[in-house]
Amino acid sequence: MKQLKLEIAIEVIEHYTELSAVEQELCEAAILAKANAYAIYSDFQVGSAVLLENGKIISGSNQENAVYPLTLCAERVAIFAASHQYPMMKFKKIAVATSFKETENELAIFPCGSCRQVIREQEVRYDSPIEVLVIADNGKVYKMPSIQEILPFSFDKTAL
Ligand code: THU
Repeated sequence: MKQLKLEIAIEVIEHYTELSAVEQELCEAAILAKANAYAIYSDFQVGSAVLLENGKIISGSNQENAVYPLTLCAERVAIFAASHQYPMMKFKKIAVATSFKETENELAIFPCGSCRQVIREQEVRYDSPIEVLVIADNGKVYKMPSIQEILPFSFDKTAL
């Protein structure tokens, strides 16, 4: 029997202000986007922002519904808006920011499985990795070179 063990690469940055100017702008867009969340059921605000190859930053926030499963996560709101507004534009980076009820928490909430799959779709679509920046509400950042770090063995069109 052979056992496979996976390693994942996540860089931890103490505060997003230590990042490059464009990454700071992206993080700020994700943090600001939380304010537009429609999260009256969970009271859990999420903001996300994507950076496209043309330098545009498109943001999104979670949008809930009384029919709970119809809720859309912030990441997907941002990705689908970007894909619609710039249909042939490669995705370079995505940032996600969440708010805990207690403030200044250094724990970060990572994208849900559905959003990981949707981010992966854009990597496969443009054959290009997307850097993922997860921002804790004390400003700490967990940065990955690709969503594959947290979605190994992903399903994509090559299987179809
Ligand atoms: N949510 C996101 O926006 N992104 C995620 O990756 C996980 C969950 C939202 C959906 C819902 O509005 C709330 O958080 C609680 O699940």
